Amino acid sequence: MPASEPRRRSVVIDGVELQLAHPDEFQVHWVGQEELVKQLRAAWLVVDAQDLPMHPRLLGKPGVGKTSLAYATARALGRDVYLFQATMDTRPEDLIITPVITDQQRIKYVASPLVTAMVEGGVCILDEGNRMGEKCWASLAPLLDTRRYVESIVAGIKVRAHPDFRFCATMNEDASTFEVPEYVHSRLQPQIVVDFPEAAEEYRILRDNLPFSDEKILAYVVDFLQRAHKGDERYTVRDGINVARYALKLISAHGEHPLRAYHQSLLMVLGEEAVLYLEGGPGKGKGV
Ligand SMILES: Nc1ncnc2c1ncn2[C@@H]1O[C@H](COP(=O)(O)OP(=O)(O)O)[C@@H](O)[C@H]1O
Ligand SMILES: [Mg+2]
Repeated sequence: MPASEPRRRSVVIDGVELQLAHPDEFQVHWVGQEELVKQLRAAWLVVDAQDLPMHPRLLGKPGVGKTSLAYATARALGRDVYLFQATMDTRPEDLIITPVITDQQRIKYVASPLVTAMVEGGVCILDEGNRMGEKCWASLAPLLDTRRYVESIVAGIKVRAHPDFRFCATMNEDASTFEVPEYVHSRLQPQIVVDFPEAAEEYRILRDNLPFSDEKILAYVVDFLQRAHKGDERYTVRDGINVARYALKLISAHGEHPLRAYHQSLLMVLGEEAVLYLEGGPGKGKGV
């Protein structure tokens, strides 16, 4: 539903009352890489009465901006956003409806952020979806094809998605995850690949996240990140924000010189391996 309308606390579906989740509210401002926003908006667009929205998966290294992209795009469309953080311990019912015992010893049914987005016509971001196992994905199969419903075994009801419901999953490209089964993969299309930004964009992203920062610190950090990207290292904007943030604290707390504060922060935030990518460091000309 549009974010401006008053929110319901609960709904009744087939005689079962469901308590709804609250939408997530963050300050996220997407900077640059407009093409990615266009790709995501196109996937969610419905072009005809017989058309259906798609369920894109946003793929990229941890910290490149996948969650931010999904969140900022959905909010820019004026939608409420419901984030579901998937983990290895996520159970199928956690994704749908969970029973809770009330003080009056009665059972209350609580809708997940996903089911709340479905009934309210919001956007659900299933974050880090490849951390959850196949049984969880299996329970979403009917939602992610033309049927657009989920079944709650616990509450004994079928929940249909509002026509305005939109979905996307983010997936980290790292080793600590499950392979998503093929029948699920084919329902999570298109694939939107989020990659490292160019230097000028990376600078703007850092400045946007740390508007109070010393310009020098931002320049050092962008230089580091760009070298690391060329070396195909895993360091991302998130790491860069942390390096800059800690350097700024060192400057403020101890009157540290910016370059020294940056060096110390890099070492303490990212460790010795990162020092390879310092300007003039041993990483320069590596492999030559
Ligand atoms: N294009 C961007 N615009 C604004 N902030 C960004 C952008 N890319 C990354 N960030 C920032 O980088 C950090 C990591 O982004 P996040 O969306 O959590 O990454 P991921 O979900 O890929 O792990 C956040 O603090 C986010 O604000
Ligand atoms: Mg994320």
